[in-house]
Amino acid sequence: MADSLLTELARIVGADHVLTDAGSRASYETDWTGRFSGQARCVVRPADTTGVSRVVAASAAAGACLVPQGGNTGLVGASVPRAGEVVLSLTRLDGLEPVDTAAAQVTAGAGVTLAALHAHAEAAGLSYGVDFAARDSATVGGSVATNAGGLHVVRYGDTRAQVLGVEAVLADGRVVRRLGGLPKDSTGYDLPGLLTGSEGTLAVVTRARLRLRPLPRHRVVALLGVGSTHAALDVLAAVRGLPSLSAVEWFHDDGLRLVRQHSGLPAPLPAEHPTYVLVECEGQEPVTETLAGALDGLAAVGDVAVAEDRRERAALWAYRERHTEAVAAESAASGGGPLHKLDVAVPLAALGDFEAAVRRRCADAGAQVVLFGHLAEGNVHVNVLGGNDDLDHALLLEVAERGGTISAEHGVGVAKAAWLPLVRDATDRAAMLAIKRSLDPRGLLNPGVLFAG
Ligand code: MLT
Ligand code: ZN
Repeated sequence: MADSLLTELARIVGADHVLTDAGSRASYETDWTGRFSGQARCVVRPADTTGVSRVVAASAAAGACLVPQGGNTGLVGASVPRAGEVVLSLTRLDGLEPVDTAAAQVTAGAGVTLAALHAHAEAAGLSYGVDFAARDSATVGGSVATNAGGLHVVRYGDTRAQVLGVEAVLADGRVVRRLGGLPKDSTGYDLPGLLTGSEGTLAVVTRARLRLRPLPRHRVVALLGVGSTHAALDVLAAVRGLPSLSAVEWFHDDGLRLVRQHSGLPAPLPAEHPTYVLVECEGQEPVTETLAGALDGLAAVGDVAVAEDRRERAALWAYRERHTEAVAAESAASGGGPLHKLDVAVPLAALGDFEAAVRRRCADAGAQVVLFGHLAEGNVHVNVLGGNDDLDHALLLEVAERGGTISAEHGVGVAKAAWLPLVRDATDRAAMLAIKRSLDPRGLLNPGVLFAG
């Protein structure tokens, strides 16, 4: 039977950019985890904002639901279809405007990868404050939609702290445009702030006006071996006050073992340690002495490796950044079902106790758990091999009981929608739902994401 929506979409974007056969749809239908997938009615790939607007309007006229998608590096099932939706791929919106060096801002299309944005900013002597391992595929639009955090939140804040403006297509196809980038603007509701972190449920972000920072002339990375997460927190306390601090990450011996198995990397330090902390500092003046001074005499520290040179810094970062792929490879090899990834955060005062509770619960359930993440924010990536929904539930209760959040930087997606009530009370959820219903009354944008059922 002819699908008149597909004909209309092909008229808007060209037949080559409406993917209907299973083979060409496949990579858009399953997310990075492999845990979330579904069949799309089609994948449509407009080239610009006007195209997105016309696609959204045509879909709305046909009553078709849309799933916006960027680089499809998400980990909570928010960017893949669930029940025959149209996948709206934004990757062709990859325009980067010239950097405004006086304002230290740039306007980037939703499909620009983080790596391309970093290179563009650096060529103008500036840098972008959000970075994470999926930088080569993850896009500006996706990172705005999830309010991505990443490695440098301790210095620059999350994506919301970088977003000065957005352009977005509303559920009926109209375009809201606030790209002026005024640092001061007191004229009512902050739509860019609202759309950041809305996970494609309120509008489709097509461009963002982003804050840039001075490009640091000096950087240093130290990888420290310590005895436990408690000792890692002692390191954090010692470096927290450094104005040059740009990252404090941590992982454990089990994760390091998987990274080394998977990558063939050599041991990072002369001896093995239960826990590892990676600290990075950056600034316009040399930063190594300052970091060394802060760590000097710290009883918690066993071994240290220090790198200043770009290549050597990347080599130390690899031990932390390659956890995601190593854990996924181990999970696939073990054949124990899909990897359950919980991105949570707890107050630092509760972190040690939380970690112990997670390990106990996973051991009781016969599941292997690998913990790593962003120590400065108490943001733990709980990777459960051989996990299940009941164990997820128990672990997320442990988070909520300690005043934590069930998603620190990956979003709620479909993965955590059922647990939103653990951290957002009834009034809070009713206010969110009122916003959703006023901007998308027919529920056409990313159904099933954020709000369960
Ligand atoms: C990370 O910090 O490496 C990312 O959030 C990805 C992950 O959690 O696996
Ligand atoms: Zn992370």
